[in-house]
Amino acid sequence: MQPSQGESPMSPTQTPAPVDAPVEAAASDVAAAEPEPSPAAAAEPGPRLSEAPDWSYLLLEFETMYRAGGSAGGSKAIRGHRKRVRETLSAVLDADPRLIARAPQEKPVTAYLPRALDVGERGAMSALARALGRVAGRLTWEYGYARPPRHLTRRYAYCEVMGPQGPVPSERLILGFVLLAPSTTYPQHSHKEIEESYLSVAGAWSENDTAVYAPGSLILNRPEHEHRITTGDLEPCLLAYAWTGPAGRLAAPGMKLSASRKARVAHGI
Ligand SMILES: [Fe+2]
Repeated sequence: MQPSQGESPMSPTQTPAPVDAPVEAAASDVAAAEPEPSPAAAAEPGPRLSEAPDWSYLLLEFETMYRAGGSAGGSKAIRGHRKRVRETLSAVLDADPRLIARAPQEKPVTAYLPRALDVGERGAMSALARALGRVAGRLTWEYGYARPPRHLTRRYAYCEVMGPQGPVPSERLILGFVLLAPSTTYPQHSHKEIEESYLSVAGAWSENDTAVYAPGSLILNRPEHEHRITTGDLEPCLLAYAWTGPAGRLAAPGMKLSASRKARVAHGI
């Protein structure tokens, strides 16, 4: 499943919708006879998290996975990361913030999302996969790069469910999902000041040349750690992820791929 030449870069941006409304509802809301919404109405605050059960239960599933599900073991560093994720997430749930409305957006790779959810629902991460399925039409899929590598534009995207941009606001923790097509290599990269964990939901994948990870595995990437992801030949790969780090860095991560051969050799990638 190799990318073809001359592909169009992405699907068009969809109509912005309230964060807790399905995509179809957003499109059908625009009736010719209805007056334009006033700027004041457009600026209305979103619902509280407690009033949006699909989002709050999705976060609860994240919390469960970082507490006891997935890879329950781990080194001191991994346990410390899991604890930071849980504590920050619990603080957000307790604060019951108002949601930030984001326009749902697809990317070409989201054509694989139904299959990834099907595979995920059969495995160790079934609860998280099902909870993600409840908000599947409301996710904002992104590349994160001003100019993503051409081969990735049809084979990769990520969405955030919590973070500085919302939909659930947090300055200290980003939670989201990465979706990769089969037979895809996400090139070598690292994250400045950001500690990252991947929690595998569906599909087999490897990080660098270390191992093949199955659903339920948790992989910790400390800041600056160079890593590269390769997915299996048959199924798409869906990874939940968590980023912790300074608020300023999470607000502007400055994602870029590593081009240095020296770094590749040093890290055995
Ligand atoms: Fe990463």
